[in-house]
Amino acid sequence: MQKFIQKLPKIELHLHIEGTLEPELMFELAKRNQVEIPYSTPEEVKNAYQFTDLQSFLDIYYQGANVLLHEQDFFDLTWAYLQHCHEENVIHTEIFFDPQTHTSRGIPFKTVIQGISRALEQARTELGISSQLIMCFLRHLSEEDAIETFNQALPYKTLIAGVGLDSSEQGHPPEKFSKVFAMARNEGLLTVAHAGEEGPAENIITAINDLGVSRVDHGVRCVEDKKLVRQLAETRMPLTVCPLSNIKLCVFENMQQHNITDLLKKGLCVTINSDDPAYFGGYMNANFMAVAGAHELNKNELAQFTLNAIEASFITEEEKDAMTKLVLDYLATAH
Ligand code: HPA
Ligand code: ZN
Repeated sequence: MQKFIQKLPKIELHLHIEGTLEPELMFELAKRNQVEIPYSTPEEVKNAYQFTDLQSFLDIYYQGANVLLHEQDFFDLTWAYLQHCHEENVIHTEIFFDPQTHTSRGIPFKTVIQGISRALEQARTELGISSQLIMCFLRHLSEEDAIETFNQALPYKTLIAGVGLDSSEQGHPPEKFSKVFAMARNEGLLTVAHAGEEGPAENIITAINDLGVSRVDHGVRCVEDKKLVRQLAETRMPLTVCPLSNIKLCVFENMQQHNITDLLKKGLCVTINSDDPAYFGGYMNANFMAVAGAHELNKNELAQFTLNAIEASFITEEEKDAMTKLVLDYLATAH
């Protein structure tokens, strides 16, 4: 299956660019920018990545981002991730970025978005990888702060496909951001939100009803509401599931207990994604391999994760048709 997964064309829909900062690059940037970090070797950084829940991860993740100061740093970060995409046959990616993690440290919004966008543009021409950018609001901060960030983003609207919601889910339900999401929809932007990762199934319902999301990030706790599961299957509301992330953050005890295959077989539009690959132990292939290693899945079912991701992506119908053909042609030769 490893070879099949490696060559399978893949689409990533849930990837935080700040979560692709590998310890080696963290060290390089710390040195280049003369930023102090509380570790003496990349090995020590890796050993610190033992998480008990979402918050224990977020504390370390926000600290890691402190080494990102200049446009070139954001370019290097994004370019390194795109190299992984290239090596792993990821043909399209929709990337989250968290501007508030940077603007709160005095980094201009423009520095962040221009560094990331320049790498995405270069990957389009040099690597043939297409992409979209999704700006996330940090839900532990206020809605006023999100609105201020949204206003800073408006001059760069053409570079952004949509807005999302991430960070601490407990105590910060989707409806806290109804107003800023309505502003985004009024500007023609699509919306997504993390919901039902650590928070209750109720958050998935409010993300759909109050924030008008086109897909739900994680969403695995939907199983706590049978009616909701039926509704997600009927409407084909996509869930961007992140298997290795869910194990690392103790959402499930182990991969055997993960519900992604069960949801796939119930007809939900579930997809496989890497979330924060530098922190959670792997990129797209590692996530596919972890699921395939723990669950009974044939080639058609594994390819269905990519077909679902194409259906759930923010690209044109023509682009979807071309990518679907690529996957079906691959499946035909792989049997
Ligand atoms: N959940 C919430 N916030 C995040 C995550 C996540 O999985 N990754 C990065 N920010
Ligand atoms: Zn995430």
